[in-house]
Amino acid sequence: MMTAEMKTRIEARVNEGLKNQWYPVAKSVEIRTDRPYGAVVMGQKLVLWRDGAGKIRCIEDFCPHRGAPLSYGEVHDGQIGCRYHGVIVDGTGTVQRVPAMPDCPMEGRKALRAYQVQESNDAVFVFMSVDEGQEAPDLPLPTELSDPAWTGFLCTAIWDVNYRYALDNLADPMHGCYLHAESFTLAFGSKQDLLELDDRGDGFRVSRVGQVGENFDWVEFAVGEGGMFCHLDIPYPKAAGPGGHMRILGYVTPMGPRRCKVFFWRMRKVEGFDRESWRFLYRARLEERHWNVLEQDRVMLEGMPDDARRREMLYQHDIGVAHLRRALNRAAKAQIEAEDASDVAAE
Ligand code: FES
Ligand SMILES: [Fe+2]
Repeated sequence: MMTAEMKTRIEARVNEGLKNQWYPVAKSVEIRTDRPYGAVVMGQKLVLWRDGAGKIRCIEDFCPHRGAPLSYGEVHDGQIGCRYHGVIVDGTGTVQRVPAMPDCPMEGRKALRAYQVQESNDAVFVFMSVDEGQEAPDLPLPTELSDPAWTGFLCTAIWDVNYRYALDNLADPMHGCYLHAESFTLAFGSKQDLLELDDRGDGFRVSRVGQVGENFDWVEFAVGEGGMFCHLDIPYPKAAGPGGHMRILGYVTPMGPRRCKVFFWRMRKVEGFDRESWRFLYRARLEERHWNVLEQDRVMLEGMPDDARRREMLYQHDIGVAHLRRALNRAAKAQIEAEDASDVAAE
């Protein structure tokens, strides 16, 4: 039997976001050598920049002097200088110089935590480990991102809802033909169906029983050691140019109790001239339409109360949502138990 206290801790952990995961935090182009970038992941403020060699650095966004955000500062010679009184910190979180004060004892002190960073496919991922020294598992990436037959665009958005809502929304194919019924891509197919769930151990698939290839008809989640992502197909009408369905690869990053950042790669399998013509069409006309769809999701989710799950009544179509929540609960429980065990061992 699980104690009430354990249940509360699991709920809090899931709400905050799982630890020891890679989360995307920014687009590659946003992290520069000439100015720092402030990000928030799981309530923790982080600052990122590129050092002289172009390598991305990520440390706590907190000046060791009096706590000013380092992201308000400047990058000098690959290190970051605080705007408030000029303290210089390097990419390991060590104070390099205190220009205002000769022989200041702060110099040489490792004062801040550094985070492991990896860049892939136009995005920057940070490993949100419990301890700094911990070894990170491989960054979980969908195969489409390493397959040259696919091409696409990364889009990101910040939504003012807990990240769980964004994940629930992705695990819920039936909303496509209702919420997005007036859209360019999701106006088709039947509005009544059953869903089925295929649990694969390293993830799961939720799909409509009655149709495939007409609307948002299936989604697959990969749930691995280093993180979670999903993919799904959006059928494209002929007017959308060459190539088959549009495939969405999605990650959701928890930022705070009511804020998250979504990362969606919109991909198509098109090569040669068709690839260029789709890429052109996407930028010229399609991107805006896709944004409208995403806005419908954002507005709906932001309109829902933060504790909706206390009153909701799930039905058959919510098997994906329920399965996803169980997976998050299980992972949170395992993390908490492992942390408790290592606390006991340390005592
Ligand atoms: S707070 Fe950063 S230098 Fe004073
Ligand atoms: Fe949607």
